[in-house]
Amino acid sequence: MLNWGVMGAGGIAYVFCNGMRFTDSGQILAVASRTQSKMDRFVNDYGIPRQYNDYADLLTDNEIDAIYIATIHPLHAEWAIKCAEAGKHLLVEKPISMNRAEAAAMVDAARENDVFLMEAFMYRCHPQITKMVELIQDGAIGEVQVIRATFGYRSGFNPQSRIYNHEMGGGGILDIGGYTASMARKIAGAAANKPFLDPISVKGNGKIGPTGVDHIAAATLKFENDIIAEIICAVECSYGSSVIIYGTDGTLTIPNPWLPSSPCRGAKTPLPLDTTFPATQLIVQSSESREPTEVTITADRDLFTYEADTVAAHIADRQAPAMSWDDTLGNMQLLDAWLAEVGVVH
Ligand SMILES: NC(=O)c1ccc[n+]([C@@H]2O[C@H](COP(=O)([O-])OP(=O)(O)OC[C@H]3O[C@@H](n4cnc5c(N)ncnc54)[C@H](OP(=O)(O)O)[C@@H]3O)[C@@H](O)[C@H]2O)c1
Repeated sequence: MLNWGVMGAGGIAYVFCNGMRFTDSGQILAVASRTQSKMDRFVNDYGIPRQYNDYADLLTDNEIDAIYIATIHPLHAEWAIKCAEAGKHLLVEKPISMNRAEAAAMVDAARENDVFLMEAFMYRCHPQITKMVELIQDGAIGEVQVIRATFGYRSGFNPQSRIYNHEMGGGGILDIGGYTASMARKIAGAAANKPFLDPISVKGNGKIGPTGVDHIAAATLKFENDIIAEIICAVECSYGSSVIIYGTDGTLTIPNPWLPSSPCRGAKTPLPLDTTFPATQLIVQSSESREPTEVTITADRDLFTYEADTVAAHIADRQAPAMSWDDTLGNMQLLDAWLAEVGVVH
């Protein structure tokens, strides 16, 4: 069983700790937070035995095996490298860093210090993705031609929030654009029998707000196998979230691509241990049939539990196929290109 330390007691860390209650693969041994009131909530709700007011103290706790970095993005690289140097395995929230160069330094640190490192794209750890790849490779929709992936929500404008603040790494591309980018790369890769593909061309556009970060952004991508993808993200518009894959013989729709089977997301308290986890659906519309086929993927744990279990299962390999080092580096390269096209400078 992995002993986890959590760095930063914010919103997503609360969700992760909730998810951790549904597995035997690990336990939260310690939480580190600069904010006493936030830490108190974690300790009260989850009974976490060790608390540190300084992130650095997690690194010196010899009983901690793995650290989950859940701070604002600009701190990810600095702390991940320090953790790796202290011999801690790592799960780092997305985006893993502010840009590809930082991500490359993190991968180097993981390699040099022989520790596990994964970017926390939890959606990649859900069995829905395995099924999606299987359907594509079985030819359920023929040859993939076009991908459309969106992630949009409306957050009221607040220049101090991490969503809009420039110094805190604000903007939709870094917050959620990475989901759409990594999904398009995954699908284009599946069509080529590879774990992912990087695009050969990226064209972008976006709306930049008064703090200099993107509120709405779109990009079109072209892959070497002639697949075209349109990816859109928005933090000031309830644009919706879905993935549609258009093939020569039909379409495959993923109505809930990013947060399937996750009662932990949104829960304000620890969930009861007899919680059940909703199934999710993929919809295949073959051009030869009038009726769509609904493919149901059941879940026996929360999405964030799948993520924690993925780390535990692959820790000996130092990286996980769900989000390998090369996959992360390619994704950050795409986000760099998208930000440059839109004109956002971090
Ligand atoms: N995978 C997912 O589903 C998902 C969902 C949401 C967010 N995320 C990612 O997770 C990370 C955290 O997001 P969140 O929504 O949890 O944000 P949040 O609630 O604002 O928490 C961020 C935490 O960062 C720490 N922090 C350190 N320095 C800070 C500073 N100067 N200003 C503000 N906070 C600072 C704080 O922890 P302490 O005060 O406790 O030290 C704070 O609680 C982001 O990188 C985000 O992209 C992932």
